[in-house]
Amino acid sequence: MAVPGSGATPLAPRLQPVLEAALGKGKGKGACVADVGCYVGHLAIAMVQQDPSVRVVATDRAEPPLTLAAQRAREVLTVAQLARLDFRQGHGFDALADGPNPAVACLAGLPAGLVLQLLPSAPNSLRRLVLQPSCPQPPQAMMDLRSWLNDHGWLLVEERLTSERGGACLTLVADAEPEAPMPSPRRLGCLGEKLPPLLRPRVLAKCHQKEDAEVLAYLQLLEEYLERVEDAQWKQVLQDELALMQTPPP
Ligand SMILES: C[S@@+](CC[C@H](N)C(=O)[O-])C[C@H]1O[C@@H](n2cnc3c(N)ncnc32)[C@H](O)[C@@H]1O
Repeated sequence: MAVPGSGATPLAPRLQPVLEAALGKGKGKGACVADVGCYVGHLAIAMVQQDPSVRVVATDRAEPPLTLAAQRAREVLTVAQLARLDFRQGHGFDALADGPNPAVACLAGLPAGLVLQLLPSAPNSLRRLVLQPSCPQPPQAMMDLRSWLNDHGWLLVEERLTSERGGACLTLVADAEPEAPMPSPRRLGCLGEKLPPLLRPRVLAKCHQKEDAEVLAYLQLLEEYLERVEDAQWKQVLQDELALMQTPPP
């Protein structure tokens, strides 16, 4: 059995960008982060271990993983850390109806279609969404998610790609825009883009660095997308992108 408080729990590399994005916005004493679909609580436990000020409410619709999560938390967390972590059972954001009001919500490992169903009932207190749909997802599902964010006052601020045995895993980070947002080129640019609009230019700028982890993960993502699409236009977009990535440098 682990000694409570004896060290940070190792986190799957795929969840590292989720943790960083959540804690990046969830700073400040008493700031609250919601982890929706927390399963056995890996991310939630790591968050309270890594940030001594954050409060985490971790929810799941299923009871068995929550029981395991609570047991694991009691094993590895100190009393003070445990006091900042709350596990609740419920569908989507329902378990947060009685508060607290989270500033950040993470939804990781859920299909993009389910994320789209859950987002309309997200609490108004949220300033940041960290979305990592289960991978692999069809590219259209990710495009629909980005469009939803654009249409509902969320500005995509970051796209991170990690690669694991299971596939390439895309994390979207979106911040609530100020009231009555001015249309910005970046915001409009996200609409209708088939490929990740923030990640893509970054990768294309270094696509000849064959050993770069992000370049390799992007190639993997394109291959996975290609396996999943039936639509001829989508296939063409993906094949063109793969060809562009493989064009020799001038
Ligand atoms: C694949 S696990 C992902 C766990 C973790 N977030 C991660 O990324 O490793 C998906 C979890 O979401 C939960 N889940 C599925 N649908 C849900 C819903 N509508 N509301 C809350 N939790 C849900 C499942 O019970 C499961 O524990």
